[in-house]
Amino acid sequence: MKNHFLWLAAGAVLAWACAAQGAGTILGTKHDFTGLNQRAGVTAMSGVAFSDLGSSCVYCHIPPEKGNVDSSELGGNPGWNRFLPATGAYNLYDSNTLDNKVKTPSPISLLCLSCHDGTMAVDMTVFKPNGWRSSEDAAMHLRIHGEDDMMNCAKCHNGRVAHNIAIKHLDTDLTNDHPISMTYAGLTHGDPDFRAPDGPYGFDNGVKLYDNKVECATCHNVHNPDITLLLRAPAARLCETCHIK
Ligand code: HEC
Ligand code: HEC
Ligand code: HEC
Ligand code: HEC
Ligand code: HEC
Repeated sequence: MKNHFLWLAAGAVLAWACAAQGAGTILGTKHDFTGLNQRAGVTAMSGVAFSDLGSSCVYCHIPPEKGNVDSSELGGNPGWNRFLPATGAYNLYDSNTLDNKVKTPSPISLLCLSCHDGTMAVDMTVFKPNGWRSSEDAAMHLRIHGEDDMMNCAKCHNGRVAHNIAIKHLDTDLTNDHPISMTYAGLTHGDPDFRAPDGPYGFDNGVKLYDNKVECATCHNVHNPDITLLLRAPAARLCETCHIK
């Protein structure tokens, strides 16, 4: 796990260097909060709903000018620019046939949940970039939540003023979602119902394992919008990457 984050940190530094060459394919996607206002043709979002931090990357990654800071000292998710959601609160998928049961999502999935469980504001980052002025702070700091009140993006994103955001709100109850953070059952042909991965990082089609585990980012790549819903393989083929039946 530790190595993974070191590797990520090193990768992140590299990317800042080549972001200009398109390393940030996140630009123009729904995770590009800096470009959102212009794209959506409204001025209502950053300024009101969330702070425009001037860089799309820092809503997830630690700003590069902060160097080797440890976000966990400030209650952050280690290696990321986001706070840890109240982890005890998750209700993860379970069933009688599930072999590997987990209680708490891993940090890389908590990164996603820090926005998608609807408990924290989208712009609630551990560090703000240098040069960002607090006088530019948003009037409100809204959360991805389908409830139409002043705490939530659904104030507008209710299907009338703007597209409904409720389906992006996974909630802290994940029992309806694919299980996450369990060790992959098909390692070294361990389980006949699962394919063995092609290598230590997962499958040749891009479906990725993290420390041998299945996480949100196993199926989704927020950096690549080529496949709808940011999936790593088309939905029709995704499942059979791992499941044999
Ligand atoms: C919504 C959250 C999010 C945002 C915003 C984001 N990233 Fe990432 N980034 C991730 C995740 C998750 C990973 C790990 C992906 C993986 O393991 O494949 C990652 C990995 C990386 C890596 C490691 C190499 C790789 O591709 O795996 C680099 C470099 C990187 N991001 C650069 C950037 C840059 C530059 C931006 C802004 C243009 C940015 N990221 C915006 C979530 C984000
Ligand atoms: C900083 C907040 C934030 C983080 C962190 C974050 N997301 Fe999102 N995500 C959003 C928002 C906002 C949307 C768009 C909601 C809308 O407009 O309906 C979104 C949309 C999505 C979508 C749908 C994309 C589409 O084209 O409709 C997927 C899939 C997704 N996120 C997965 C992830 C995964 C996986 C991670 C972790 C690697 C992650 N997100 C981390 C805020 C976040
Ligand atoms: C004051 C009203 C308002 C608020 C509050 C608001 N939005 Fe929006 N948003 C809009 C409008 C209007 C559009 C354009 C119509 C649409 O895409 O549905 C839009 C579009 C978007 C898009 C689509 C942009 C694209 O190019 O696909 C995303 C993503 C988004 N909003 C995210 C958010 C998030 C996340 C929040 C809460 C942090 C939020 N919005 C709060 C009004 C608002
Ligand atoms: C096993 C693969 C897999 C895993 C693991 C996974 N997803 Fe997904 N996700 C999908 C697929 C497939 C879809 C599209 C079909 C659907 O909505 O069920 C999807 C849809 C989504 C959507 C968009 C909903 C919509 O219809 O607009 C979001 C947001 C999302 N996932 C976030 C996450 C987050 C956050 C996690 C981790 C807590 C996660 N996913 C884990 C496969 C996965
Ligand atoms: C990266 C590999 C991977 C992918 C891709 C994947 N799964 Fe899974 N899935 C698993 C693992 C591992 C388990 C947990 C098995 C265990 O521990 O018993 C699981 C469990 C499940 C379960 C619960 C089974 C039970 O015993 O309760 C369902 C249902 C499921 N997956 C459906 C899907 C669907 C539908 C898709 C495609 C959208 C998909 N999976 C994609 C690896 C994957």
